[in-house]
Amino acid sequence: MSMNRILSVGVVGLGYWGPNHARIFNNMRGCRLGALCDLDPDRIEKMRLRYPDTPCFVSFNQMLEDVNLDAVVVATPVRQHFSLGKAALLAGKHVLMEKPMASSTAECEELIALAASRGLTLMVGHIFVYSTAIQMIRKIIDSGDLGEICYINSQRLNLGVFHNDINVVWDLAPHDIATILYLLGRAPGAVNCQGHANITPGIEDVANVSLSFDCGRFATIQSSWLEPRKVRQMTIVGSRQMIVYDDVEPLEKVRVYDTRIERPPYDQTFGEFQYAYHYGDSYVPRLEQIEPLWQMCQHFIDCSISGAPPLSGGESGLEVVRILEACSKSLQANGGLVAVADAPRILRPLSGVMKTQRMNGRKPGVFVAANVV
Ligand SMILES: NC(=O)c1ccc[n+]([C@@H]2O[C@H](COP(=O)([O-])OP(=O)(O)OC[C@H]3O[C@@H](n4cnc5c(N)ncnc54)[C@H](O)[C@@H]3O)[C@@H](O)[C@H]2O)c1
Repeated sequence: MSMNRILSVGVVGLGYWGPNHARIFNNMRGCRLGALCDLDPDRIEKMRLRYPDTPCFVSFNQMLEDVNLDAVVVATPVRQHFSLGKAALLAGKHVLMEKPMASSTAECEELIALAASRGLTLMVGHIFVYSTAIQMIRKIIDSGDLGEICYINSQRLNLGVFHNDINVVWDLAPHDIATILYLLGRAPGAVNCQGHANITPGIEDVANVSLSFDCGRFATIQSSWLEPRKVRQMTIVGSRQMIVYDDVEPLEKVRVYDTRIERPPYDQTFGEFQYAYHYGDSYVPRLEQIEPLWQMCQHFIDCSISGAPPLSGGESGLEVVRILEACSKSLQANGGLVAVADAPRILRPLSGVMKTQRMNGRKPGVFVAANVV
């Protein structure tokens, strides 16, 4: 595909999240908002007022037939992801799927094979991988300043939007799982997941997930739709330093602590043995103020044009869904340990760092940070 081509992008699903994609593709250089689609005519009418020149459809197949699109964003509930993504790939479109990629690993595998066989870009909306905060944390980890990563804890809690078709793990934890895999560059061997359905019978609205990695690393995720505060916090504990990432903070999202505990060699008597606590300074690295969704959409356009593998391609979507499936099994077994896959997996597509970090060369456009959940 020519590097000078303008990509025409269609967005399907115009509920809470899809309009953010529409806003960005309408403003981003290198593409245009080619078409909009939602089953709900009221949603279509609202979007028609905002984008009077963009053709709107209630039928996805009609949109694919009538408009010459290069790419499609699927921003519907997850149960629709597979059929819509498959139809778009079969029609020869590059596809950006919102998270989680699909409802099962089998669906993800089919989409990956289809995209590969047709030479199309398939990317998943693991948005935090594209945030300047996570990019900064990844750089600090890669520099070795943190030492060995021992443990990661992530909390994503608020008085949530309740869903009837998926539980809180499938709704919120994909963000944490994708971020943890990106930071560690590997996938867990086993998971435990416990949860409770307080409001809708059978749909867990609070849950705790543990991820055990073959290298001895460990991560925990707490997900809740039943919390009065909005909490978006991740702690990354290294053997030398620690990081607290608070996504609710407007500016100082990342703080690095020169804090550690050392266990001296056990050459003293039990009574004399003491752990060594180190309390050093903390600092806040400067982060560029770039909307993560913008960064992610730009990456999708860049990869669709160049054919380069995306940082969060189909394989990373599959890995997250594999873990979600294991979580569902563990939930049924009341938190029992469930193996994720037979062999340890190093995640090559996830192990790069973003190259494009700047707004240079883009239309100024509206730049309102979307409320990432
Ligand atoms: N990255 C983030 O921070 C973030 C935030 C919110 C939602 N999401 C993801 O975005 C997706 C959509 O979530 P949402 O909260 O906007 O859902 P929503 O229920 O608010 O909206 C979904 C829309 O899709 C439409 N739709 C459903 N099936 C359709 C079909 N076959 N054809 C056309 N339209 C169809 C519905 O009418 C609805 O308007 C989900 O995958 C979700 O996980 C991501």
